[in-house]
Amino acid sequence: MNKRDNPYTPGAGRKPRTLAGRDPDVEQFQTLVERLNSGSYERSLIYTGLRGVGKTVLLMELDVLASEASWATTDVQEVGSPADFRVTFARMAIRLLTNMSARHRARERIERALAVTKAFSLAGPGAVELRIDGETATGVADSGNSEHDLTDLLEVLGEVAAANNMGALFLIDEMQNFDGGSLAAICIAFQAVSRRSLPVALVGAGLPDLRVRLLTAKPYADRLFSYRELGRLSPVDARSALVVPAAVFGVDFEARVVEQVIAEAAGYPYFLQEYGLELWNYAEESPISEGDLRAIRGVVRDSLASSFFGTRFNLATDAEQGVLSAMASLGTGPYRIGEVATAFGAKDQRAISSYRESLIEKDLIWSPRRGLVEFTVPLFDDYLREHRPVQ
Ligand SMILES: Nc1ncnc2c1ncn2[C@@H]1O[C@H](COP(=O)(O)OP(=O)(O)OP(=O)(O)O)[C@@H](O)[C@H]1O
Ligand SMILES: [Mg+2]
Repeated sequence: MNKRDNPYTPGAGRKPRTLAGRDPDVEQFQTLVERLNSGSYERSLIYTGLRGVGKTVLLMELDVLASEASWATTDVQEVGSPADFRVTFARMAIRLLTNMSARHRARERIERALAVTKAFSLAGPGAVELRIDGETATGVADSGNSEHDLTDLLEVLGEVAAANNMGALFLIDEMQNFDGGSLAAICIAFQAVSRRSLPVALVGAGLPDLRVRLLTAKPYADRLFSYRELGRLSPVDARSALVVPAAVFGVDFEARVVEQVIAEAAGYPYFLQEYGLELWNYAEESPISEGDLRAIRGVVRDSLASSFFGTRFNLATDAEQGVLSAMASLGTGPYRIGEVATAFGAKDQRAISSYRESLIEKDLIWSPRRGLVEFTVPLFDDYLREHRPVQ
C-alpha cells in the first residue's frame, strides 16, 4: 500500500476519516440547533472521557455542523492550565462577534458588544488587556464578579445573535481546567441565557471529573446540561473505525485481524488509529493479514509506550511516578487511596495526599468518588505494570 495514502490519524485532535459511533451525538446536536433556532430551550452538552477517546474531534465535528447551520462559533477553544477565565471568555466573545459581523448589518450592536467584551476582559483580578479597538463599556460586565460579568457578556452576545437570526456556540475543550468559581459562573450565565431563550449554547468537553466538578460548583448543573460519557467504541463502531478508512481505497482486512485489533485496542479510538496506521504502512497487499499484524504488533506497542503513555508518565516527578506504579500494582482501578499508600510503602494515606493532589492537578489521575482514584489514561495500568513496575 502506498504510505502516502495512509488514511489513519493517530494523534491529538486529528480528525479521523470515519468518525465512528457518533451518529447519536450528531443528531442530538442537530436537535439542539433546530430548537434554539425556533426560540425553544434545549440543554447544552457536556462530553467527558479519558484521554484519546475522541472528545476534541467530536467538538471539531460539531463546529462544522454549527457553521453549516449558519451559527457563529468560537472554534474549539482549549482551556489552559492554569486556566484564565476572563481571557478565555473574552477571546471567545471576540471570535463570535467577528464571525457575526461578517454576516451582520447592525454595526452598532456589534460595537456595543465589543465594548462590553473589553469591559469584561479588564474587570477581573490579573486582567490582561486584549487588543480590542473602540470604547470600553461601563456598568455592564465590569463588576469584577465572574458570575455577574459572564451573565452580562453572554446576554449581550445572545442579543446580537438573536437580532441576526443565528445562534452562538461556545466550544470549550479541557474544561476541567476551570476552577470551581469559574464553573459556577458558567452555570449561572448559561442558565440566565436559557431563561431568556437566547440562542446561545455550550458544548464542553473534559476529563471524567468535569461532571463532578460542575455539580460541586452548582448542584443544579445536572439539570442544566446534558452529559455524555465517551469511552470505548462498541465492537461494531470499532470495526468501522478500523475497516472503513481502508475500504475507501479498496483495501480489506482478514476477519481475524479485525477481531484481534479491536481486542488489543480495547475499542479505544486512539489505539485503533495506531494499529491502522502501522498495518497500512507494513502490509504489501489486501487483505491485511494476521502475518502483518504479528509483524507490527511490537512497533505499535513501542510507539504507544514511548508516546502516548511515556510522555504522560514523564510529567510526574519521581515520587509521583512511584504512586502511579503503586496504583497499577493493585490491578485494574478504581483504587482505594489507603491501599495505594500501602503499596507505595507509606505509613498511611496522608503521607501520599500531596502526590495525589499533584497527580490530579497534572490530569494524570482523577477521583471518581471520595477515597478512590483512577487513571485518566486508558490502559495505563497495563503499561505501568509492564514498563514501570513498583521498584
Ligand atoms: N469516533 C472516532 N472514530 C475513529 N477515530 C477517532 C474517533 N474519535 C477520535 N478518533 C481518533 O482518536 C484519537 C484521539 O482523538 P481526540 O484527540 O479527539 O481525543 P481526546 O478525547 O480529545 O483526547 P485527549 O483527552 O488526550 O485530549 C485521534 O487520533 C482521532 O483521530
Ligand atoms: Mg482532546
